[in-house]
Amino acid sequence: MTLIRKAVFPVAGLGSRFLPATKAQPKEMLPVVDKPLIQYAVEEAVAAGINEMIFITGRNKRAIEDHFDKAYELESELEAAGKQALLEMVRTVVPKNITCIYIRQSAPLGLGHAVLCARPVVGNEPFAVLLADDFMDTDAGVRPVLAQMTDVFEYERCSVLAVQDVPREHTRQYGIVSAAPYRANLELVSGIVEKPQPEVAPSTLAVVGRYVLTPRIFDYLENIGIGTGGEIQLTDGIAALMASERVLACRYHGQRYDCGSKLGYLKAMTAMGLKHPETGAGFAEFLKELSARAA
Ligand code: G1P
Repeated sequence: MTLIRKAVFPVAGLGSRFLPATKAQPKEMLPVVDKPLIQYAVEEAVAAGINEMIFITGRNKRAIEDHFDKAYELESELEAAGKQALLEMVRTVVPKNITCIYIRQSAPLGLGHAVLCARPVVGNEPFAVLLADDFMDTDAGVRPVLAQMTDVFEYERCSVLAVQDVPREHTRQYGIVSAAPYRANLELVSGIVEKPQPEVAPSTLAVVGRYVLTPRIFDYLENIGIGTGGEIQLTDGIAALMASERVLACRYHGQRYDCGSKLGYLKAMTAMGLKHPETGAGFAEFLKELSARAA
């Protein structure tokens, strides 16, 4: 039996780095080739054995709820037109045994606050947090990133953070950990700070948007108060949690694209466009043409 059954998706953010595209639609609905970012994140959670998806939403996020709901009109049109493959695709956006729960975060009080909003539904069990704009790709045959982390949880029974090395000048964009080697691909975390300036960052090991957390985090999040950027920071909650529990950092196998930034999004689209069975060959050809033109 899988120990992690619930995943929290904080999706209330404004997506201001992607305006005007996100003026009237959630940034989590931006597609990478043909699937919205949030669907990739949900699929990653499903692959880790999770069956309860908890979305922390806000105003202007209805498209996410609609995406994971039945689309009667579309389905009957596709059925009438005999488009079975498309119908199947639309129907299986959410696999049958999956429950979706929506909680509104009415004020933008930060990631820690968003996670805290999930407390009444998560209760007293370990859970995952996925930030959909951190898009994770893994090679064929490699476990998806969240599944790598829930595997670690099953064995170690403590909170696990996904980490990667970043250039020092980028530390101000991430939670940064101090850590010491623990065992293969894992580090034991001894400190964590939110968005330190490069001169004072304790390391260049950055937390990216996948977490497996024990429920004790909620007690700390209730009490930490406002942190960096005037928000309740998940990072500060994790720092407090470390006083009573071990926290591990996982150097996952996989490629992360920061789809909260334009460049990261373009890279994800390019990588996935090249991998996609319908577009791969034609897109590779086009990229060759483009670089020949530039040369
Ligand atoms: C959030 C977290 C930060 C983490 C980052 C990963 O920041 O606060 O600790 O490193 O996600 O993407 P945000 O990108 O929402 O500013």
